[in-house]
Amino acid sequence: MLPCVNTEDDSTAAAVTLPVNVRDLLPQDLPACTWAGSDTHLRHVATGGVDYQVCEGAGTLWQLAVMPALQSCGLGTLLVRAAEQRIRDRGLRRAELAVEEDNARARALYERLGYAAYGREPDAWDEEGPDGSIRRHETMCILMCKSL
Ligand SMILES: CC(C)(COP(=O)(O)OP(=O)(O)OC[C@H]1O[C@@H](n2cnc3c(N)ncnc32)[C@H](O)[C@@H]1OP(=O)(O)O)[C@@H](O)C(=O)NCCC(=O)NCCS
Repeated sequence: MLPCVNTEDDSTAAAVTLPVNVRDLLPQDLPACTWAGSDTHLRHVATGGVDYQVCEGAGTLWQLAVMPALQSCGLGTLLVRAAEQRIRDRGLRRAELAVEEDNARARALYERLGYAAYGREPDAWDEEGPDGSIRRHETMCILMCKSL
C-alpha cells in the first residue's frame, strides 16, 4: 500500500521517508516502459532514459516520468541527476532534453537543475487511449541543454 501524503496544514499531516534505489532497466522491465499515465506506468515509481544517438557528443534524457502520487518528493530530481552521472560516466559533458511547451512544471524543474532553453522543435508520437485506440499526438517542444 502506498503512503497517503496529506499536504494540508493540519494535525494529521506527516512526513514519510522512504529509501530509494536508482538502477538500470533490465529486459524484463521493458513492458513497463510506456508513457506516463498507463496502468503499467502506475505500477512503477519512476522511469527515465538516456538516448546517445539523438545528438552527437551528448546524452539526451527522455521518457522521464514519476508516478503521480509520488511527484514533488524529489524523485524527478534524483532521476535527472542519476542520468547525468551516466552521461558523465560515458565521457560526455553535455545533457540534452526536450519538454513540451505547455509542460511548465517539468520545464521549471529542468531550469532549477541547470538546463537552459536554446530552441524549439515540433514532435509527434502515437498515444494509446483508455479504450486501447491509438491516436497521433502532435506538439511543440522546447529544446534544453546543460553542460556537465
Ligand atoms: C516532471 C516530473 C518527471 C518531475 O518529477 P518530480 O518527482 O515531481 O520532480 P521533483 O519532486 O524532483 O521536483 C519537482 C517539484 O518538487 C519540489 N520538490 C523537490 N524535492 C522536494 C522535497 N524533498 N520536498 C518537497 N518538494 C520537493 C520542487 O520544488 C518542484 O516543485 P513543483 O511541485 O512546484 O514542481 C513529474 O512531474 C512527471 O512525471 N510528470 C508527468 C510526466 C512528464 O511531464 N514528464 C516530463 C516530460 S519532459
